[in-house]
Amino acid sequence: MKHHPWPALPAPLVPKIPSGKSIAVTGGAGFLGSHLCQALLAQGHHVVCLDNFATGSPDNLRRFVATNRFTLVEQDVVLPFPCDLPRFDEIWNLACPASPAHYQRDPVRTLFICADGARRVLERATEDGARVFHASTSEVYGDPDVHPQPETYVGHVNPVGPRACYDEGKRFAEAVFTEGCARAGLDLRMARIFNTYGPRMHPDDGRVVSNFVVQALRGDDITLYGDGSQTRSFCYVDDLIAGFLALMALDEDPGGPVNLGNPVETRMDELADLVVALTGSRSRIVRRPLPVDDPRRRRPDIAKARALLGWQPAVPLRTGLERTIAHFGERVAAAFEPFAPPAALAAAARPLAGGVMAS
Ligand SMILES: NC(=O)c1ccc[n+]([C@@H]2O[C@H](COP(=O)([O-])OP(=O)(O)OC[C@H]3O[C@@H](n4cnc5c(N)ncnc54)[C@H](O)[C@@H]3O)[C@@H](O)[C@H]2O)c1
Repeated sequence: MKHHPWPALPAPLVPKIPSGKSIAVTGGAGFLGSHLCQALLAQGHHVVCLDNFATGSPDNLRRFVATNRFTLVEQDVVLPFPCDLPRFDEIWNLACPASPAHYQRDPVRTLFICADGARRVLERATEDGARVFHASTSEVYGDPDVHPQPETYVGHVNPVGPRACYDEGKRFAEAVFTEGCARAGLDLRMARIFNTYGPRMHPDDGRVVSNFVVQALRGDDITLYGDGSQTRSFCYVDDLIAGFLALMALDEDPGGPVNLGNPVETRMDELADLVVALTGSRSRIVRRPLPVDDPRRRRPDIAKARALLGWQPAVPLRTGLERTIAHFGERVAAAFEPFAPPAALAAAARPLAGGVMAS
């Protein structure tokens, strides 16, 4: 097991927890995971992030150095949890490539990350009696023929299409957690996350907000797929993380998955125009064919989240985009590198001399 915190502390490897919960976050070095770790640390908890840096980066976590309640462990979630970690009160499962560009790179591996990741989290949670949070997705609804999508809608997914590795993997993981947690008597919280955007998204992961913003900031053509009439609903990351925390803190059983997302629907051509306006870019908007199985409409029905959690998004698209543009503006100015393959990322984040330590 490789620990990657900063700076080195003497044994014991993982400090005792004076107060706060002991929490594991798989995929904590990614976009959502790093915001979640930040929020959990701000609440006073001790956080262990397990990540193999396939699509995330330790750079997303450097700001947590100052606390001695954070530990970073390089770990593939398909493997059993390392046994020298403390008992966990909560395990949050976010580890999975999330954008089509990433999850389609090795579709079979994506399926097994979903499947084996769920199995390993379940095994460890059962051992520890931990409450489980699983980051599921609106992709379990596929290309929906019900609109907006409530949690009771069972979906319209093509099991042999190019998105199946992610959609079916996530559906399988929901089934593993539902059955496994029920049998082990564990509390389970599953969020079906709809498109979320914000600072620390990977600039080259092909998701529409980061694509448009980066293209506009670089002055490149903005690629609009299809005729631009397809819609998505965009949730700002701070809103989503507030929903995560509220769902995990809920004492009553939520009775299955809960949609978390912003119900305000936006056409892709409108999004492109807004990004151009907010960046002051002179980029041209160019059209490309719609990818196979690309959902035409996506909007969460968040009645369940409203009723159970009193939660709804608060950040308007324009405000969230301004914050996101400010973040990407700095990165574009620093001429960031294009997406590095997993091996290169892992090498860039190799363990500190001596291999094992914690803070
Ligand atoms: N961002 C969204 O809009 C969105 C929407 C729906 C669902 N989700 C889900 O939320 C979770 C986080 O998504 P994100 O947007 O932060 O993506 P991300 O790619 O930024 O983060 C995923 C993290 O998981 C890690 N990871 C991937 N495979 C791993 C493995 N085998 N072992 C250990 N770590 C591994 C990556 O290195 C990365 O740090 C994912 O499970 C994703 O499916 C995200």
